[in-house]
Amino acid sequence: MSGHGGAGEPLSFAGKTVKGDLGTLATLLPYLWPRDRGDLRLRVVAAIACLAIAKAAAVSVPYFYKQAVDMLTNDVDAVLTALVAILLFYGLARMADRTFLELREFFFARVAQRAMRVIALSTFRHLHRLSLRFHLDRQTGGLSRVIERGVKGIEFVLSFMLLNIVPTIIEIILVAVVLWALFDVWYTLVTLAAIGAYVAHTMLVTEWRLKFRREMNRSDQAANTKAIDSLLNFETVKYFSNEGHEASRFDDALRRYETASVKNKTSLSLLNIGQAAIIAIGLTVIMIMAAIDVRAGVMTVGDFVMVNAYLIQLYLPLNFLGFVYREIKQSLTDMEAMFRLIDEPLEVVDAASAPALEVTGGRIVFRDVSFHYRPDRPILKDISFEVPAGRTVAIVGPSGAGKSTLSRLLFRFYDIAGGAIEIDGQDIRQVSQDSLRQAIGIVPQDTVLFNDTIYYNIAYGQPSASPAEVEQAARLARIHEFVMAQPDGYQTMVGERGLKLSGGEKQRVSIARTLLKKPAIFLFDEATSALDSRTERAIQDSLREVSARHSTLIIAHRLSTIVDADEILVLDHGAIVERGHHGALLAADGVYAAMWRRQQERGDRSPSSDRGAKAALGAAAP
Ligand SMILES: Nc1ncnc2c1ncn2[C@@H]1O[C@H](COP(=O)(O)OP(=O)(O)OP(=O)(O)O)[C@@H](O)[C@H]1O
Ligand SMILES: [Mg+2]
Repeated sequence: MSGHGGAGEPLSFAGKTVKGDLGTLATLLPYLWPRDRGDLRLRVVAAIACLAIAKAAAVSVPYFYKQAVDMLTNDVDAVLTALVAILLFYGLARMADRTFLELREFFFARVAQRAMRVIALSTFRHLHRLSLRFHLDRQTGGLSRVIERGVKGIEFVLSFMLLNIVPTIIEIILVAVVLWALFDVWYTLVTLAAIGAYVAHTMLVTEWRLKFRREMNRSDQAANTKAIDSLLNFETVKYFSNEGHEASRFDDALRRYETASVKNKTSLSLLNIGQAAIIAIGLTVIMIMAAIDVRAGVMTVGDFVMVNAYLIQLYLPLNFLGFVYREIKQSLTDMEAMFRLIDEPLEVVDAASAPALEVTGGRIVFRDVSFHYRPDRPILKDISFEVPAGRTVAIVGPSGAGKSTLSRLLFRFYDIAGGAIEIDGQDIRQVSQDSLRQAIGIVPQDTVLFNDTIYYNIAYGQPSASPAEVEQAARLARIHEFVMAQPDGYQTMVGERGLKLSGGEKQRVSIARTLLKKPAIFLFDEATSALDSRTERAIQDSLREVSARHSTLIIAHRLSTIVDADEILVLDHGAIVERGHHGALLAADGVYAAMWRRQQERGDRSPSSDRGAKAALGAAAP
């Protein structure tokens, strides 16, 4: 995410950022005044009413105090009952101040929490709508922190902006009016001047300090993503004994955090000293003015005490201003980052009122399809082929040829640059993505499982499936026996991303969940590559059985698994270089025939364990 809102420039609050921040705040408003929730709106009104009552009470406290002092200092004997009554009012006002502040919280908490929930949920939903391209470009840890920070930011802004800043401003205005009404205009002016100086000082110094804070956040985030990435790759780190390397990368980020954090702490003292000085000067000037007026007989001792009480009462909330201002700025930045995620344009979108895909036979047509992930590197060039309804087409070819890319295109994870992909005569861009993806079942090349039970992972193919159906799918995928041999059976946890299972077990769980989905079209991308040949043959049989009468696209390295495909396409560098039946391709004696011969020589083993690879390793060994 690029820097936004003039990061690093001091005094940016005077310019564009204010508008940006106000814009961010405005984004929040509809959530606080939800159109379809009368009850929440009522709560907002009640909260505002409570706030008004609380502030009125707060401003009357010093006034009752003054009345009491005047009664006590006047030579005339005040009636004791009147004095007691005044003091009772004083106590009541104090209590009302606090009580109504809490009541406001009582009314408002639900509104704020609901807004946070709604916003977090819509960000989450949006993240799932964004393209694969977007997600491959981001670090997942970073994304979840953007949401986490954004939601925290909303909470902070709501509780402090509406519950601290706004009330303080109201109180300042009320006090200014009272001072002006009761005494000389100068009291108001000096009070406002002191507050103005205080606010200006706080904002300037805080703006200057923000860069330390930003650096803290940046290094904090860097440390975090580095730690997560390194722990996710735990096995890899161990394979290469790179613990030291990982630690020093982590420490780099920590060191930057340390430096920024120290600067942040020391500059806070500067802020505090300045604030204390301004308050002291303001208070002293006002007290001197009041003392002179008391001497001159214009003011009573009660007035003197009241002015002092007002100022102290005003300065108290201002004490937090530096913290609040900084945190609110930070919160607004965090919120903006989250709102920017929500505004992140979708790459693959449904056409306006796109109908659902209607699968009749499941005929797939790729017509002159060209595609690139980046414009400067074409991946597929004018690919044309057809999978007639209920037939099986196999795609073979060297690594990186673009085979898996074809499957991603059929799922419409990306839109193609040219040509068209059709299912039963409907361009996949013209139907809803949901219905398209529902129609296709894929066993992907790399299966990643959820960190949950085997049962959950299989049932994921169709969450409404009954346990019997789940078991049936597991039997077909030849994983049932393995599961039953586990102490916890179907409740066995598979570990983060399924890493507690072997590659072949993972692959079979993946096959089971796709079989459970019962799609109209099957897509197997090296679906059995990690299995031994006996298990593979057994699964191939069930797959053939299940996918009979379904259009099927098989991507395979091991050619023996696809000999009876209706058509075999040989893909190389994004182009189809040969096509035909197994027999015809052998007779043509081209690329396919050469591949076939090579694999036959090795006794039809998986490419990763072939003699050639072993010979190469052996040669490299000393
Ligand atoms: N998200 C991506 N961004 C940029 N390039 C990509 C992306 N995904 C794949 N590629 C590139 O596209 C090319 C085709 O990738 P693809 O996964 O389709 O290969 P493949 O034929 O399935 O290979 P394999 O047999 O190794 O699975 C590769 O060169 C790969 O580096
Ligand atoms: Mg692939």
